[in-house]
Amino acid sequence: MGSIKAIITGVAGYVPDEILTNKDMEKIVETSDEWIVSRTGIKQRHIERDPDKGTSDLAVGAINKLISQTGLKIEEIDMIIVATVTADYPFPDTANIVAHKIGAVNAFGYDINAACSGFIFSLVTASQFIQSGMYKKILVVGADQMSSILDYEDRTTCILFGDGGGVVLLEPSEEGHGVQDAVLRGDGAGAEFLHMKAGGSIKPATVQSVEAREHFVYQEGRTVFKSAIKGMSESITELLSRNNLTQDDIDYLIPHQANKRILYGVADYIGFPHEKLLINIENYGNTTAGTIPLCLSDFQDKFKKGDKLVLTAFGGGFTWGAVLIEWAY
Ligand code: UT7
Repeated sequence: MGSIKAIITGVAGYVPDEILTNKDMEKIVETSDEWIVSRTGIKQRHIERDPDKGTSDLAVGAINKLISQTGLKIEEIDMIIVATVTADYPFPDTANIVAHKIGAVNAFGYDINAACSGFIFSLVTASQFIQSGMYKKILVVGADQMSSILDYEDRTTCILFGDGGGVVLLEPSEEGHGVQDAVLRGDGAGAEFLHMKAGGSIKPATVQSVEAREHFVYQEGRTVFKSAIKGMSESITELLSRNNLTQDDIDYLIPHQANKRILYGVADYIGFPHEKLLINIENYGNTTAGTIPLCLSDFQDKFKKGDKLVLTAFGGGFTWGAVLIEWAY
C-alpha cells in the first residue's frame, strides 16, 4: 500500500446560456472581431444576465452536473472550497452559500481568493486535507461571474472576460495517481498592475468611488502579459526538473486561459509541443478561477488513467504556479 494521494474522480463545467460574441462587443465598445481574435484568441464569452444570480449559482450548476455524472451522495461531501474573486458577498464566503444551496449538510468550506491562480491554489490546499486522511470527499470549485466586475466602457478589459466555472471531486487513493507536486508563488508587488481599486478596507465604496468607476477590473495588460509568460514558464520548468521529468513525459498542459498568445508563448518558452496544449479560450474568454476546471471538463474524454497533466496559472496578486497531477480514471 502506498501513501494516500488526492485523486480527481470527477469533473464538470458550467457556463450561463447567454453568449456575447465579438460582434456583440463591437456594439458595446470600439473594437473589432478581427482585433479580439488576433490579439487574444477569444471568439465569444458567456454572460449571466439574471440579476438574482451570482457565482454560487455557477458553482451549483457545475456541481449538479458532477453529481449526475458520478452519483456522488450530497451528504458524503466533507468540504467545499470555492476559488473566486467574485464572491456572492464580501462575507459570508461563497462556499457556505453553495453548501446550503446543494444541501451539503455535513460539509464546511471557505473561499480562496488567488485570482486566476485560485483553482490551482485551492486544488493543492484541498489535496492536503485528503493526503492527511482528514477528509474523504472534497469539492474544489473555480468560478467567477466576471461580468459583475467588468467596466463595459473599457475595451481593454471587457472583451477579455466571461462568466463560468467548474468543479472537481477529490478523493483519497493509494494507487499513486492524483496530485503529485506543485510550485506555487505570489508577489504582492504585482498588485498595482491587476486589481480592483475600491470596495475593500483601504477604499470602501463611496459615491465618489462609484462615479470614478473604481469597482471594476483594472489591468495594465502588457505588464501582466509578460509576467504571465515568465511566471508560468518558470514554475513549470521548476516542477518538471525537481520531479526528474521532461516535456516528453507530460501528456497535456492545461494552462489558465487568459490569452492564446500567452499560452503559445509559454509553450515556446519551455519547448512544449503545441499539440499537447489544451485551449478552449475561444468559447469562454477568461473566466478567471473558472478556466482550468472548465478546460479539464471539456477535454476529460482525452485523458487516460496514468496520464501526466501539468496545470498552470498566472493572475492578480501576482499569483502563479504549476501543479503536476496523474489522471486517475
Ligand atoms: O487572467 C489574468 C491575467 N490577465 C492576462 O493575462 C491578460 C494579459 N494581457 C493581455 O492579454 C494583453 O495585454 C491584452 C489583450 C489585454 C492587450 O493586448 P496587447 O497586444 O498587449 O495590446 P496593447 O494593450 O499594447 O494595446 C495595443 C493597441 C492600443 O492602441 P494604441 O495605443 O497602439 O493606439 C490599444 O488602445 O490596441 C488598442 N486596444 C484595442 N483595440 C481594439 C486595446 N484594446 C482594444 C480592443 N479593441 N478591445
